[in-house]
Amino acid sequence: MAPLRLGSVAPDFSAETTTGPIKFHDFIGDSWAVLFSHPADFTPVCTTELGEVAKLAPQFAKRSVKVIGLSTNDLADHDRWVDDINEVNNVNLAFPIIADKDRDVATLYDMLDSVEHDASNVVNGIPFTVRSVFVIDPAKKIRLILTYPASCGRNFDEILRAIDSLQLSDRQPIATPANWQPGGEVIVHVSVSTEKAKQIFPEVREALPYLRFATLPAEEGEEEK
Ligand code: BEZ
Repeated sequence: MAPLRLGSVAPDFSAETTTGPIKFHDFIGDSWAVLFSHPADFTPVCTTELGEVAKLAPQFAKRSVKVIGLSTNDLADHDRWVDDINEVNNVNLAFPIIADKDRDVATLYDMLDSVEHDASNVVNGIPFTVRSVFVIDPAKKIRLILTYPASCGRNFDEILRAIDSLQLSDRQPIATPANWQPGGEVIVHVSVSTEKAKQIFPEVREALPYLRFATLPAEEGEEEK
């Protein structure tokens, strides 16, 4: 299969999850989605990550994003693990976690670690998944891909920030600068002339002929966390 890239259609699949069986594209429907994988159940970093996503569930929902986790254990393990996650993080995890015991989805999305890379993420010669993140839009196109090693828990505030940037750049002809936060100055897209930008944005500041900062129209009010 061709490697998954930004703009690829997210491969569809059927799977068992903690909230029932799904067909992935039907699950996404008209929403955005974040598909994120974990090495295995009952592992410490993953337990904190899933707790964090459960806490941030309203923030994902506010952006019309459905979240769905994946780990390479069966449903019985997932159910017991969710009890631990809820208890230790004081949450009520309600989003689905895919039971990918046979690594079908992990293989489809190229989520498996390499045997040589991390001995702590391999059992009996079989690698676990890495910490993959796929942000998928309502057209089922992959819009962002992140890959973290098993040892490094992800920053889910950054994933929300990147989704804000993606959704904003779908609505406005802009890009977002380094360390941008919602409400901050944006960059006029290279395809838009400065003259045109001045008709679109309340303020345009030309730092360089190819680097034009702009403030956003009032209707793009700042996202609150
Ligand atoms: C963890 O989630 O803590 C973890 C999982 C696999 C390898 C290393 C760490």
